[in-house]
Amino acid sequence: MFQTDSFVKACQGQPASVVKELLEEALRDPESITQALAAFGNGKNVGDNAMGDLLIHRSPELTILKAAVPAGFKSPPHNHLMWAVIGVYDGQENNYFYRRSGETLEAAGGRDLKAPDVLVLGQEVIHAIANPLERTSFAIHVYGGDLPGAPRRMWNPRTLKEEAFDMQTMRSYAKDLMAK
Ligand SMILES: [Fe+2]
Repeated sequence: MFQTDSFVKACQGQPASVVKELLEEALRDPESITQALAAFGNGKNVGDNAMGDLLIHRSPELTILKAAVPAGFKSPPHNHLMWAVIGVYDGQENNYFYRRSGETLEAAGGRDLKAPDVLVLGQEVIHAIANPLERTSFAIHVYGGDLPGAPRRMWNPRTLKEEAFDMQTMRSYAKDLMAK
């Protein structure tokens, strides 16, 4: 039975490999995750929510988010500057990877995550996510640091030019991508 507090405690001080095991174990009972996290954002308009709405835990060493990704959502490429473990507990979250190429980015493969898939991202990873389904998808994202406080980067999805991560701009890029 998934309990938010004990999951957070279990993740504290652990490397990505252990968090991956913890998430895999939790995902054997996705229904109890859905119930435990029902109080956090429902994802109906994630593009308009502050990230804090979906924040389960934030400390200098650990950030845990409920990622409620609306139908058809597409993010621009971005990094985290820390490891991340993604566990999809309901629906699908496609990951597209990129690498730097001169002043811009080039595509570097991808992975479609379907519940109950778990994916570990190294701290150098640049990715974009998308929900290809016609309904909201839900995942737990665990990061090995203070994600909201990190000097992250993102890339304009049209020009692939690098810029400072900004939630407001991220949302407008996402809306732009979804309108295509
Ligand atoms: Fe991300």
